Amino acid sequence: MRFDVLTLFPELIQSHMDYSIMKRAQDDGIIEVITHNPRDYTLDKHKKVDDTPYGGGAGMVLMPQPYVDCWEGVNIIGKSLTVMMTPQGEPFTDKLSDELAEYDQLVILCGHYEGFDERIREIIKPREISIGDFVLTGGELPALCLIDSISRKIDGTLGKIESAHDDSFSDGLLEYPQYTKPREYRGLEVPEVLLNGNHKLINEYRKEQKIERTKNKRPDLYKKWLDNN
Ligand SMILES: C[S@@+](CC[C@H](N)C(=O)[O-])C[C@H]1O[C@@H](n2cnc3c(N)ncnc32)[C@H](O)[C@@H]1O
Repeated sequence: MRFDVLTLFPELIQSHMDYSIMKRAQDDGIIEVITHNPRDYTLDKHKKVDDTPYGGGAGMVLMPQPYVDCWEGVNIIGKSLTVMMTPQGEPFTDKLSDELAEYDQLVILCGHYEGFDERIREIIKPREISIGDFVLTGGELPALCLIDSISRKIDGTLGKIESAHDDSFSDGLLEYPQYTKPREYRGLEVPEVLLNGNHKLINEYRKEQKIERTKNKRPDLYKKWLDNN
């Protein structure tokens, strides 16, 4: 899958992609991440990409020309979708991550400052996505949330794809508690059931734990899960 990210700060995207699982996924050719800087498309000799808002108000607004020209310069491949990172968008969820993982290409618009001139929305008509009801300084962290989460859904990104299937939200519940060595730490023991090798009992224990912790930690999810089961 290919991600084309329009950003004024490509290094912010690169810094995350240069490590760990995301780096390996790129090295293995499972994902490709390409950044495009709207500043390279400005027609202004000072490379200006933002200006003051019409009507007054604080902050700077991203100008349409560098963003639209930059977007039009992206090579489209296969099944492609353009998304805009904005706190005004639809909430990003595990379900949406599954849906977006079906595309061959995502073109991601990252804003900054006060955000986008409205005409960028009108011309590009992106799907608008938010990572939560709070406001960050820029769209790079939200874009990385999408890229990271979607990449995990693609076969080959994780060492064992099963580990994504068991994750929180995959079946509407939070994940069961996990333990590793040592067997006892500061007087706290790993539950006996996990040590006996009986996979039927282990699966039953984990299912109960998933339900119990979802009920306690996320009553909203629990209610949804009950309604669907
Ligand atoms: C300071 S924000 C602009 C917020 C805008 N003035 C508003 O109130 O809707 C700058 C940029 O950060 C990104 N951003 C900030 N919070 C976000 C969120 N919760 N989800 C997705 N993107 C976000 C967007 O790309 C946005 O254009």
